[in-house]
Amino acid sequence: MTKRFAVIGCGRAGMAFASRLTAAGYTPAGFASRSLKSARRAGEISGFSGELTNKPNDAVAEADIVLITTPDAAIRPTAQALARTGRFRQGCAVFHASGALSSSELSALGEKGVSTGSIHPLQSFPAILSEKNPFEGIMIGIEGDRQAAETGRQMAVDLGGFPFSIETGGKMRYHAAAVVASNYLVTLMKTALDLLSASGVPSESRFAVLKPLIMGTLSNIENAGPVDALTGPIVRGDTDIVRAHVAEIEKHNPEMISLYKMMGRHTVDIASVRNSISGDVRQQLLDILAD
Ligand SMILES: NC(=O)c1ccc[n+]([C@@H]2O[C@H](COP(=O)([O-])OP(=O)(O)OC[C@H]3O[C@@H](n4cnc5c(N)ncnc54)[C@H](OP(=O)(O)O)[C@@H]3O)[C@@H](O)[C@H]2O)c1
Repeated sequence: MTKRFAVIGCGRAGMAFASRLTAAGYTPAGFASRSLKSARRAGEISGFSGELTNKPNDAVAEADIVLITTPDAAIRPTAQALARTGRFRQGCAVFHASGALSSSELSALGEKGVSTGSIHPLQSFPAILSEKNPFEGIMIGIEGDRQAAETGRQMAVDLGGFPFSIETGGKMRYHAAAVVASNYLVTLMKTALDLLSASGVPSESRFAVLKPLIMGTLSNIENAGPVDALTGPIVRGDTDIVRAHVAEIEKHNPEMISLYKMMGRHTVDIASVRNSISGDVRQQLLDILAD
């Protein structure tokens, strides 16, 4: 039996779901967005011939799966409005796609007996969709009640992705982890690249200089885990070099010193877990790296 889906909030994520669920054999059953123009775009990309609306209630009645892909702040009010007056098919599951929020944003619907979950593709969707399936091979985090979790997992597989489960209470920390891994990596890399430029390496070749080191480190983390992947002066207990780094950065690039010291202190913790430094060396390193 084909699944009928509706999308509320036809922006980047909504368009991606609309297009690729249709390609996967799901049947479009309704589209609503704040503007009719966006709902129309999603309808067109899915070959939907029914009514397009800016009223979420009008889009959900024929759907087995409802995706609320509004901005995060609009998810709860949308769910509350749907719970007040929406009509749902028996067994319908409602999802949102936020990475940070859990299915508890949809609690107003859960209280009405509607199955609720969240489905979070770890992907950055483009403003304009290309031929390429943006779900292909990506990880898709699923969370919610039992029925929604099952439906979400099947949807993730049908979209071409790999589902994995998240605990409802862990959703915000899951999202924080993704921010650290992606956004903070950018911050870390920018600091390393700026420091390299400041050392005299020409700016145009600075990424090429660091790239083999970065890729090798990522590969070591994947193969051996972060504790065993650690190399460098801290894990060797080389206090003289760490002291010299701090002195140089404080003198020439003081705007980077707080990040260097803070990351250094966390690196000392990893070296301690590895048992590569004595308690005495650990304390010397922490003193050098204190703010
Ligand atoms: N973008 C990504 O790469 C990505 C990846 C994973 C998860 N997500 C999640 O997907 C969700 C949507 O993000 P997005 O990037 O797709 O946002 P977006 O491009 O801004 O799209 C949001 C859409 O929702 C519509 N909308 C806003 N308020 C509404 C309301 N009250 N009722 C109905 N429709 C409303 C907007 O209106 P108009 O009708 O005016 O266009 C817009 O089309 C978020 O929860 C986000 O965390 C996004």
